[in-house]
Amino acid sequence: MSRKIIVSITGASGAIYAKVLLDKLLTIRDQWETVGVVMSDNAKDVWQYELKNDGYRLYPFTFYERNDFYAPFASGSAKFDTMIICPCSMGTLARIAQGISSDLTSRAADVILKEKRKLILVPRETPLSLIHLRNLQAVAEAGAIICPASPSFYSLPPDFEALAATVVDRVLGLAGLEVGGYEWGEPTSHG
Ligand SMILES: Cc1cc2nc3c(=O)[nH]c(=O)nc-3n(C[C@H](O)[C@H](O)[C@H](O)COP(=O)(O)O)c2cc1C
Repeated sequence: MSRKIIVSITGASGAIYAKVLLDKLLTIRDQWETVGVVMSDNAKDVWQYELKNDGYRLYPFTFYERNDFYAPFASGSAKFDTMIICPCSMGTLARIAQGISSDLTSRAADVILKEKRKLILVPRETPLSLIHLRNLQAVAEAGAIICPASPSFYSLPPDFEALAATVVDRVLGLAGLEVGGYEWGEPTSHG
């Protein structure tokens, strides 16, 4: 298995989605070769604010600075196959939609799109302005997958992390990774 995956965490609300994503990637260590993580300054701030810790520092992935254009996935030659931006702020979405590669996340997304590889955006914003909608349309037309952070309730998730996992499991499935989350039609753990 030689999957090379970029995880970008931006400063939208929903740090719990990023935490559950990183946790789940650790549980499927046999399914990927490399996971590179980049966080914006606001992503770190929102993580601290919403989760009351700086636990992102403890993950055994390779972390890159937000302006490190020497990171391997700043170039198509490094052949990272999938990029997940979770959660994705409207600012980052706009930079990608307009091709403004002013930080590592927007540059890496630009590379993924031009190389026709898999880009998955997990926006949380609500409601959406016409600007947001146009930017979402532009990135979808360029080949990105939009997987909104819209949790589902039919598995009767018992806590916030389980609720967040209903989104993250869909994201990982779209990335072609097997996590064995709840599938519609299965009995729930609550009867
Ligand atoms: C607590 C908190 C929650 C935020 N939630 C969102 C959000 O849901 N969506 C969004 O687009 N921006 C949100 N922002 C604002 C972004 O962090 C800000 O626009 C930032 O410039 C995005 O830059 P980045 O994409 O490089 O992280 C939030 C900021 C804070 C402090």
